[in-house]
Amino acid sequence: MVKFMINNKKYEADEGETVLRVLIQEGIDIPYLCYHEALSSYGACRLCMVEVIAGGGKGITTSCTLPVSEGLEIQTETPEVVQVRKVLLEMYLAEAPGSKKIQELAKKFGVVHSRFTDFDIEAKGDRCVLCGLCVRVCSEILDVGAINYAGRGTNTSINTPWYEISSSCIGCGACAYVCPADAIDIIDKDDERVMETWHRTTLKLKECVDSKQYFATEKGVNHVCSKCPDLPEEMKDLSPDSRMRKIAADFVLKPRRE
Ligand code: SF4
Ligand code: FES
Repeated sequence: MVKFMINNKKYEADEGETVLRVLIQEGIDIPYLCYHEALSSYGACRLCMVEVIAGGGKGITTSCTLPVSEGLEIQTETPEVVQVRKVLLEMYLAEAPGSKKIQELAKKFGVVHSRFTDFDIEAKGDRCVLCGLCVRVCSEILDVGAINYAGRGTNTSINTPWYEISSSCIGCGACAYVCPADAIDIIDKDDERVMETWHRTTLKLKECVDSKQYFATEKGVNHVCSKCPDLPEEMKDLSPDSRMRKIAADFVLKPRRE
């Protein structure tokens, strides 16, 4: 365990833990966009900035990439930190003017207008802040890599290869799940899932043999099953709810050994 200070209060955490994780665990308000507990730290959005005092010096850095260390002193609300945070939030308001989630986040930290845009914030539809969470969940967790950064400068976007329908997307929806800006649209209709944002890549949905509900794409289920070779065959055609019911029923009906 290492001991350190945050906002003049003493804390301790395991070595290797990041400052941002401690801030979140301790309920200390800090904005962030590109961090997710299931993914590696990336340091892209810069919103999680804090002031660090260590080794006789001080500076501002991203808390998601900063490991805790003995004697470290962190301040989350100095005038400099608050100023940097507000400028960044103004930039994100301009970059993703169509995202209600980003507007809510900015408002929570006192930012409702952006100097970096001359159009009405609601008028333009862009919602992506290029945080990269969707790209990383697709490659790090799903091992699919269907999307990535494309283009340069102000034309940078998250996209499928060649800006076309994706042949590798499995339609799992993890990208939309982690997106902090609500920027990815997925529509389930009848027996199809349409990944609207990924050039309307369309996948067949799988029906649960028990509940008769569509619960995931066929390609997604096959992908997960290929990663879990020990999954019993009869489980592969069941929705998560039906699977839980079956496990519970099997447990209750199983003869007990005295
Ligand atoms: S689509 Fe969402 S998760 Fe992906 S980069 Fe944009 S804001 Fe981040
Ligand atoms: S959460 Fe730390 S840089 Fe984005």
